[in-house]
Amino acid sequence: MADHPIGVFDSGYGGLTVLKEIVRKLPGYDYLYLGDNARAPYGTRAFDTVYAYTLQCVEWFFSQGCRLVILACNTASAKALRSIQQQDLPRIGPDKRVLGVIRPTSEIIGSFSESGHVGVMGTPGTINSGSYLIEIAKFFPGIRVSQEACPMWVPLVEHHEHESAGADYFIEKHLRNLLAQDPNIDSILLACTHYPLLINKINQFLPSGIRVIAQGEIVANSLADYLDRHPEIASDCSKGGTVRFFTTGDPEEFNTQGSLFMGAPVQASKLVL
Ligand code: DGL
Repeated sequence: MADHPIGVFDSGYGGLTVLKEIVRKLPGYDYLYLGDNARAPYGTRAFDTVYAYTLQCVEWFFSQGCRLVILACNTASAKALRSIQQQDLPRIGPDKRVLGVIRPTSEIIGSFSESGHVGVMGTPGTINSGSYLIEIAKFFPGIRVSQEACPMWVPLVEHHEHESAGADYFIEKHLRNLLAQDPNIDSILLACTHYPLLINKINQFLPSGIRVIAQGEIVANSLADYLDRHPEIASDCSKGGTVRFFTTGDPEEFNTQGSLFMGAPVQASKLVL
């Protein structure tokens, strides 16, 4: 029994693209994944709603023994992380930690670009929050960042339409919009953990020479670094090498789809919040 697994959270399947890389990098720890599929997508929801849903899920992770929770969801990181860290943690878990994906990505994104022109694609929630503009400017003040919100991309993935011919229209449209803002973009960040599932189609519509960057490996490396720098937290996380999955949606469906995201069989249990 894993007493203190590391919690990994997403609105749905997307966080599995991050979990996969974390488990590859740090296989010794225990992990607990929750996809709030019943309420996904988060990306088009109001600030208060994303905050309330995310807080509820973080409290569930704590009730399961997690001392460290990763919000492997850009929308939740943009809209809920700061409030949870500043307002809620002192009350519900002063000895616990909740980390997001925006800061670790912003710390490194500028180093991928030679032209100094970067594109960021995400949900309307993430893009409209301006979080990436603010964070990237802190670490790479000379980089020009252009953003594009893609409201249809998560629904395409959550509804298993991401390989369909219908997906082409929305993928091509948003890539075109982004590149129209700045033709010198040489690196595009997929600032949504669902988007790596669209990578084949994205590459199909992109001119050659533009690099597409997913977050999984970046977040995994950053977590490894964090645990090295915080041995008191690392020693608090149990190390049995287990991975357990929960979904607020349909477990059967999660198992089928989740296996594609993880690249390994997934057995999820139903969570009623
Ligand atoms: N994977 C989430 C993200 O990174 C998707 C958000 C949503 O549910 O719209 O933003």
